Amino acid sequence: MLFIPEEDPYYYASSNVLGTIDKIEKLSKRHPVNVLIAGKQGCGKSSLVKQYAAVHRRPLATFQVGILSEPGQLFGEYALEGGETKYKQFLFPQALQTPNCVIHLEEINRPEHPKALNMLFSILSDDRQVWMDELGLLKVAPGVVFFATLNEGDEFIGTELLDAALRDRFYLMLMDYLPNEVEREILINKTGITGKQADDIIDIANALRSNPTLLTEISTRTTLMIAEMVSVGATLAEAISNSVQTNKEALESLLISLHMEKGYLEMGETEYLLYTRDVLLKGESRPLAENPPEEKMACSQHA
Ligand SMILES: Nc1ncnc2c1ncn2[C@@H]1O[C@H](COP(=O)(O)OP(=O)(O)OP(=O)(O)O)[C@@H](O)[C@H]1O
Ligand SMILES: [Mg+2]
Repeated sequence: MLFIPEEDPYYYASSNVLGTIDKIEKLSKRHPVNVLIAGKQGCGKSSLVKQYAAVHRRPLATFQVGILSEPGQLFGEYALEGGETKYKQFLFPQALQTPNCVIHLEEINRPEHPKALNMLFSILSDDRQVWMDELGLLKVAPGVVFFATLNEGDEFIGTELLDAALRDRFYLMLMDYLPNEVEREILINKTGITGKQADDIIDIANALRSNPTLLTEISTRTTLMIAEMVSVGATLAEAISNSVQTNKEALESLLISLHMEKGYLEMGETEYLLYTRDVLLKGESRPLAENPPEEKMACSQHA
């Protein structure tokens, strides 16, 4: 089934991006259009595609090109049904034949098999059609917009996977992380944290972003994850530990270095509590150290 996605009430885009998107929308009234969005992980590529579909009330279909291992895999497969082998059509043929559909091809530069993109080529090139024995002639419907996204920092464009002839047929949009004041607005609006909490998160994100030993990007997705954790009561240190993908040593030295600047990063002491539904419902969990002495005796006698 194809759905028009729900609009994000707090989606912000630069005037550059909006200008380009507006032209794409106009061009799509003349013929199907291909747009390639490149940008770092979590900078808002997918959400832009979704928001475009939502704003223009277009159905959206998203496909992971990164997991394709053979040509035709997007279109359908043979499956056993009641003892018979039948061809089962997937969503992709339906999407491309749906007028005004927004088709999002994720990680277009990373299919598992180089030939996996072969059948996409004719769909994306001026032909706008492909013949399949199983499905006949598939023609791209009027108004369809293809968005391909790829992560900068991966091989980027220029690999043989995205061949030059095909790349030529895409409008290119380069996206970057949002400026601090926009990210701040988003954190507050989407998670309900306070302005002060948002400022703290952005300060720390900036510190992490300029830290060369951290082998990971702090994306808007990451700061949103931190903000969500904080919004349900986590300390900043907890939220960072649970949201920033890095190794233990890097994380510890980071927390220590941040701790020197910010006094409120205390993690609290680690204690072990009984975690069962019963204890949870009664709200009676207490640390091991507070157990009555006779219980402890019982434990040690069994040991
Ligand atoms: N401009 C923006 N306005 C509001 N929210 C945003 C914006 N950009 C990103 N976000 C939020 O940040 C998160 C990550 O964005 P998104 O998934 O679009 O990134 P992406 O570039 O597609 O990531 P990936 O490279 O992992 O596919 C989402 O929760 C999204 O809602
Ligand atoms: Mg994405």
